[in-house]
Amino acid sequence: MRNILVTGAFGLVGSDLVPALQKKFGSSHVFALGNKTIPKEFKGQLVKGDVRDMASLEKIIKKHNITDVYHLAGLLSVGGEKNPDLAWDVNINGLRNVLELARDYKLRVFWPSSIAAFGPTTPKKMTPQHTVLEPTTIYGATKVTGELLCQYYFVRWGVDVRSLRYPGLIGYKAPPGDGTTEYSVHIFYGLLKENRYSVFLKADARLPMMYIDDAIRGTIKLMDAPSKKITVRTSYNFAAINFTPKELVSEIKKLYPTFVATYDPDPVKQKIAESWPQSVDDRVARKDWGWKPEFVLSKMTNVMIEGLKKKLQ
Ligand code: SER
Repeated sequence: MRNILVTGAFGLVGSDLVPALQKKFGSSHVFALGNKTIPKEFKGQLVKGDVRDMASLEKIIKKHNITDVYHLAGLLSVGGEKNPDLAWDVNINGLRNVLELARDYKLRVFWPSSIAAFGPTTPKKMTPQHTVLEPTTIYGATKVTGELLCQYYFVRWGVDVRSLRYPGLIGYKAPPGDGTTEYSVHIFYGLLKENRYSVFLKADARLPMMYIDDAIRGTIKLMDAPSKKITVRTSYNFAAINFTPKELVSEIKKLYPTFVATYDPDPVKQKIAESWPQSVDDRVARKDWGWKPEFVLSKMTNVMIEGLKKKLQ
């Protein structure tokens, strides 16, 4: 029997991953830890703790016989630039605590890396799995360090830790986080609330993106794969779609022709976007454990609008 701890349980990924894990393992076997406001519709097991405090995590692991940790707690790119010390503390010390406990209690771990591990010197198109990792944000620095830590704990201690370099994720269950790709979530709130939105990136800022259902399916598929299939212990390139703000706007306009989008690029966010790839080569993930995305831009746009409409009712 597996008992699962999810940290960052109420963030963009956690809000969709927790219900999927509850369905797979049973609600009584999934424990949600998060410092965000707990949505009133949440049903499940809540635990209290702080990923920066190893003792509080150890208590949870012992009490609930935890076997797997989906360690999602972390600051995103824009939030990280606002508070680099906190980004380092949560993203690195939190991960290290989880990996130490994983070694001692033989836990399996999932931890998300990001396209933010890449930087301006990385090839921008179809970025290869093994490439230059010289990010220019603190968030990116924590992702590269985290990837190396994961690989180290696997090589040195045999910890079964697996990771994906998430692209910009788009979902409606959680409010958008403090990230660079999150314009693609905010825009749907703008559409449904005011029929207008001012994009904080340039119209042509192409970035790798993915609808959250693909991300959740991929994450569970990666964790279900036999260990011998996992040839990458830093983090897998993981891709679905890529688009510019302008392309997303024209997709929305097919359904809402009166929607008004303007562009008011924020210098910090635009610079971050320009330092990241435009598309990512995920052939290693496809070959090793059968990754395949399902959502194209039009399907994602439809599902986002329908889902968010219901949520905002
Ligand atoms: N969505 C994240 C961000 O923009 C990318 O990992 O910060």
